[in-house]
Amino acid sequence: MSEIAKAVSSRSCYLRAFLCLIVVICLIMLTVPLAPWKYTAYLPSQLTVFESFFVRNSKNATVKELLQDISRRVKVPVLDCAAIFKGSINATVAAKHVLSNISVPLSDSFYLNLTEDCDVFQKQRGYIMSSLTDEEEQFPIAYSLMVYKDTEMVERLLRAIYRPQNLYCIHVDLKASNTTFEAISAIANCFNNVFLSSRRCDVIWGGYTVLEPELNCMEDLWKYSKWKYFINLTGQEFPLRTNHELVKILTLYRGAVDVMSSVKRVSFRRFPRRKGPPYRLRIVKGQVHIVVNREYVDFLLHNQIAKHLLGWSRITQFPDETVFAILNSNPQLGIKGTYTKWPEESASRGSFARFKNWDKSGIPCAGRRVRKICILTTGDLPLLGQSLMMFANKFFLEEDRVVIGCLEEKIFNDTRDEYMGTKVFNTTPYLNADFITNKVE
Ligand SMILES: *[C@@H]1O[C@H](CO)[C@@H](O)[C@H](O)[C@H]1NC(C)=O
Ligand SMILES: *[C@@H]1O[C@H](CO)[C@@H](O)[C@H](O)[C@H]1NC(C)=O
Ligand SMILES: *[C@@H]1O[C@H](CO)[C@@H](O)[C@H](O)[C@H]1NC(C)=O
Ligand SMILES: *[C@@H]1O[C@H](CO)[C@@H](O)[C@H](O)[C@H]1NC(C)=O
Ligand SMILES: *[C@@H]1O[C@H](CO)[C@@H](O)[C@H](O)[C@H]1NC(C)=O
Ligand SMILES: *[C@@H]1O[C@H](CO)[C@@H](O)[C@H](O)[C@H]1NC(C)=O
Ligand SMILES: *[C@@H]1O[C@H](CO)[C@@H](O)[C@H](O)[C@H]1NC(C)=O
Repeated sequence: MSEIAKAVSSRSCYLRAFLCLIVVICLIMLTVPLAPWKYTAYLPSQLTVFESFFVRNSKNATVKELLQDISRRVKVPVLDCAAIFKGSINATVAAKHVLSNISVPLSDSFYLNLTEDCDVFQKQRGYIMSSLTDEEEQFPIAYSLMVYKDTEMVERLLRAIYRPQNLYCIHVDLKASNTTFEAISAIANCFNNVFLSSRRCDVIWGGYTVLEPELNCMEDLWKYSKWKYFINLTGQEFPLRTNHELVKILTLYRGAVDVMSSVKRVSFRRFPRRKGPPYRLRIVKGQVHIVVNREYVDFLLHNQIAKHLLGWSRITQFPDETVFAILNSNPQLGIKGTYTKWPEESASRGSFARFKNWDKSGIPCAGRRVRKICILTTGDLPLLGQSLMMFANKFFLEEDRVVIGCLEEKIFNDTRDEYMGTKVFNTTPYLNADFITNKVE
């Protein structure tokens, strides 16, 4: 567009905004005498541009109302989620009858339509467009989301973790359908702080392509200077904590890196000629769910040793299970926050990254297991409710919509109650975990 066209279009924008304002004021003058304006009386579909303008400029009282309204709207109809969390048999049985029918699945075209007006999209879907507390505002979190299908699940995950001060990089696999990619792009375009990874890859399980999108997102996120921690998620995970709780936990980490590892489980068959990593780095096998600080990301992206380590990992199998954990298990590298003790996994070492139910854990699985991992369903809600973890893995929305519905209900309830001061998050279990006390300072 030429400069003149831009100027003209921006002037016509002002004009349009001005006309809109006049229309809105007229409408209000018409409606106010009939029905006194009350935010909570409106159904989502009736929300107007004027209201979102109002909410964005709101004082605390209105944020409270907004949070109440959102939690009311995400409430799962018919079922009693609170009772399911408490393990009530009746409530769980009732849920079984509606597992995949509790709400209408939201299609790609639904999202493409709704995002035509981002204001309407944010309002109707109930996004929290406020950082809520100073504590949260001062502690932005950077996320990467690896997704390949199921736009609705991705969007509900984003909604649950969304705050304006955080950053979100979404990598949509090249295998994803065109409409999924378009819908997720449209959603990202509705927020300043949500963007798609600058490069798209075709991720093949077990190879280096698993690592590439993660590194791309890290590079994209690195350009933003404010964030304190980086967390990577997939589109089949869901938070168990509110943003405020995440901030409290990560503050208690005091820079500690949370990437579990094991020396015993290393499989040398995965390395060509059974050759270990360069620089005689201690080799470990680790978790792919990472919660790391800025210094760690800086080292991974910019340090020569990390570059050579990544080069070596290209020719290994499952590099995602080694690279991240190796960096956390070699304190001689001096990366702030990394673990200084013998890097064997143990319960006492502590990790709050994921609730993940492996068959070997001995924890019962209410549904079925896929590749040894329990697919979390409604019957697992009592365990999820008690978990201290930050996120849970893994869910299939099309099979069980209740489990995500109830988690959402809890998280938006907790957000509301913590903001109102009627609920206080107990941080005691997170104090001085072994991996927090024994780290490179
Ligand atoms: C808004 O609420 C927060 C947390 O409840 C409080 O710290 C802050 O002082 C309040 N701000 C105003 C303007 O009342
Ligand atoms: C959420 O809050 C509503 C209203 O206070 C309550 O009825 C519902 O049981 C709560 N749900 C959960 C999961 O706590
Ligand atoms: C559970 O359902 C049965 C049969 O519908 C009913 O008799 C019983 O009172 C219910 N129990 C609770 C705790 O609601
Ligand atoms: C969903 O609803 C359909 C039709 O109403 C019913 O046949 C099916 O059994 C229900 N399934 C579940 C899991 O709720
Ligand atoms: C978008 O949704 C609105 C409201 O449901 C509907 O009236 C309209 O036809 C839809 N537009 C498209 C392009 O699907
Ligand atoms: C997706 O879009 C690309 C380019 O726009 C096109 O070449 C391709 O055929 C489309 N794929 C499908 C499955 O529609
Ligand atoms: C985190 O990053 C690693 C490395 O790219 C990746 O293999 C893993 O799947 C990611 N974890 C999640 C939960 O996305």
